[in-house]
Amino acid sequence: MTEPVLIDWSEDKRAEFRQGVMTARHRLHMAPEFTDLALAALLERHPRELTDICTMGDDPADRESWRAGAACNMSGVQLLEAVREGKLWINLREAMNHDPVYKPVFDALFAQLKRLNPDYRPLSAYGGILISSPKAQVFYHADVSETLLLHVKGKKRFRIYPPHAPWLSDHSMEQILHKTQTEDIPFNRAWDEDAAVIDLTPGSFVSWPLHAPHRVENLEGLNVSITCEVVTRASMMKNAVLHANGALRQMGFTPRSSSPNGVQAVAKLAFSKSWKAWMKIAGGRKPMPKSEETFDVDLASEAGYRDRAAAA
Ligand SMILES: [Fe+2]
Repeated sequence: MTEPVLIDWSEDKRAEFRQGVMTARHRLHMAPEFTDLALAALLERHPRELTDICTMGDDPADRESWRAGAACNMSGVQLLEAVREGKLWINLREAMNHDPVYKPVFDALFAQLKRLNPDYRPLSAYGGILISSPKAQVFYHADVSETLLLHVKGKKRFRIYPPHAPWLSDHSMEQILHKTQTEDIPFNRAWDEDAAVIDLTPGSFVSWPLHAPHRVENLEGLNVSITCEVVTRASMMKNAVLHANGALRQMGFTPRSSSPNGVQAVAKLAFSKSWKAWMKIAGGRKPMPKSEETFDVDLASEAGYRDRAAAA
């Protein structure tokens, strides 16, 4: 891929990138890699262990309705049809940095981002492709990495909230980093008043500050987006400090600072690394919840899936 991915980067956008909520335009919705047929082929060849298939309820506060399922013996075209007609959300994790068709697009995007933002130095980057139903939603959550989103198909409403209390507490982030909690965090509907609201259309690019909570409601059509998770020195330091603070709290201390700068932060980075190494030896890592598959994708059903318990 030789053409640029992003098309309207400017001085203002460069200043806002990663500091605040910023939007730009890209041209991947017109690229041959994102036609229905190309996506159907990707659905068929993407490794199953990197594919999450989920469904959810309508209430944005009911995160317990989020659950996992499976699609066995379906073609990519059938699966796409089930998503278009039902209430499904498919995450093809790492498709952008893993799949030979999409990796050149991903590499071109990051080469261009580095060119456009000379201070931007990702240490590692991963990209997934999300394919979701016209009425699917993603509940309020905060991501551990810096995140970028390139919207390709359909329409969705994106709400981004400030990355500090009351919208997000240090304690919540510590729990996420210690894997004692999923990325879902407490949500109050009244906070929608405080959110930056962006309606994404094909060709929209959006980025937001590290850990800023967000939630997404699809508005119409089959939705396809690319999400990139990026580890930078800044995100590594901030996460190490929060991780160390979480460990200190478990040891009965009350950490007073979550600043990612200074001597204390460097000490916390070292402490966090040794804590992680110890937990690995001690076998302290817990599996993420919600991984149990409770439904099968089913074209004949209105929601696009059939519950396993109901089918038994
Ligand atoms: Fe996210």
